[in-house]
Amino acid sequence: MNDELIVCTNVSKRFPLPGAKGEFTALSDVSLTVRRGEVLALLGRSGSGKSTLLRIMAGLIPPSSGTVLSSGQPVVEANNDVAMVFQSFALLPWLTVLDNVEIGLKARSVPRASRARRALKAIDMVGLDGFEGAYPKELSGGMKQRVGCARAMVIEPKVLFMDEPFSALDVLTAENLRGEIDDLWNSGDFPSRSILLVTHNIEEAVILADRVLVLGSNPGHVRGEVRIDLPRPHDRTDRRFKDIVEHLYAVMTNPDLDVAAATPAELQAKSPFSRPLPHVRIGGLSGLLELLDETPNDTEDVAHLADRLAVTADDLLAILEAATLLGFADLAGGQVRLTDLGRKFATASILESKPLFRDQLLARLPIFVSIVRTLSERRNRSMPADFFIDIWDEYFPREEAQQQFNTAVDWGRYAELFEYDSGDGLLHLHEDADDPSHFSE
Ligand SMILES: Nc1ncnc2c1ncn2[C@@H]1O[C@H](COP(=O)(O)OP(=O)(O)OP(=O)(O)O)[C@@H](O)[C@H]1O
Ligand SMILES: [Mg+2]
Repeated sequence: MNDELIVCTNVSKRFPLPGAKGEFTALSDVSLTVRRGEVLALLGRSGSGKSTLLRIMAGLIPPSSGTVLSSGQPVVEANNDVAMVFQSFALLPWLTVLDNVEIGLKARSVPRASRARRALKAIDMVGLDGFEGAYPKELSGGMKQRVGCARAMVIEPKVLFMDEPFSALDVLTAENLRGEIDDLWNSGDFPSRSILLVTHNIEEAVILADRVLVLGSNPGHVRGEVRIDLPRPHDRTDRRFKDIVEHLYAVMTNPDLDVAAATPAELQAKSPFSRPLPHVRIGGLSGLLELLDETPNDTEDVAHLADRLAVTADDLLAILEAATLLGFADLAGGQVRLTDLGRKFATASILESKPLFRDQLLARLPIFVSIVRTLSERRNRSMPADFFIDIWDEYFPREEAQQQFNTAVDWGRYAELFEYDSGDGLLHLHEDADDPSHFSE
């Protein structure tokens, strides 16, 4: 009981819709506890109500129903147990770094002399020693967020709330600052007893948190909890780290997957990476479809196909598998038949065939949705190839994992979803590939 700092019980939040058109439910029946000594991450997609939940716990807005206790007391107005770091930094541009950091202390009527002393210490702690007199516009994004951290940490709140604190920063800056926060936490000198971190970045959650609560959407609710039971600092190269990342990855891409119950076997069955792609070039696939299109009734005996296409039996099987996987052909009783979609693909110009192909990849092969989502969640829209190959590696021998990657890249490139650049070793999202209209939840 004693280690419970903040306890939400059955918290719901409804907002009135504009024009008195009823209500919108942002949060439904959320119960959670922030415990002393832990870093708790709330992981959820945009719109799952993460910021709303933080605001309710901070006492900035009331819940529509349910209760929030902080240090055992009901939260009725601004909760003095917490201070917040915002994604947008939220610094006052007309104040210096020192004055920005002192603001919260002033609001809490801390005497002037100890205000300055505490603020300088916090500024030092975030590595901004020497910048006390600078104005926000003179600082880089990373430095601004350091001020944002100092301003919250100087209050020494019991719980530090961080709402996507690194997502407005470039990847390297985010990585640095995340690492420093982690170091400070692990050193035991952190000025708060707990951290509540909101993020939609899976790896960030697993690096920093001891426990991850996965939020679902429509309306926002808690899907379940994943414990990060690893020694701190969490080692990304640890096999278990990768397992947890992958577990969360599967959970985030499968709204129906039970967060707690997913066993390795279930994950194996559910992970889009566990289903092998047949190694087929787009040319081979179009070859089959065009040939069927020219065949009477668009139907041919499988037995005749290998000869007509001049491919080996193995290659033919792979091509047939690709064609059926993508919905371009049906296979029954030793006969292959072109589907309407297959005919459309076979007769389309290259320009027309690409979107058709892309739609089929995203609708029928979850692996492509996963890859596109992962890339679009990165600020620089890219990710090292090894990240993906390592996941395939869990399911296939190394060489096959590499082959799976190659095939996915080949198909993804044709579909204009992503490109692999062997120069930087990164998979890059194609422009517009994360247009939300591509996805159905
Ligand atoms: N004051 C408000 N009035 C009406 N609707 C709101 C209000 N605040 C939030 N919402 C709605 O509630 C839902 C959840 O919003 P919230 O900002 O909490 O999500 P989030 O998980 O923090 O998303 P993001 O990752 O984009 O920050 C959204 O659909 C949002 O439009
Ligand atoms: Mg938010």
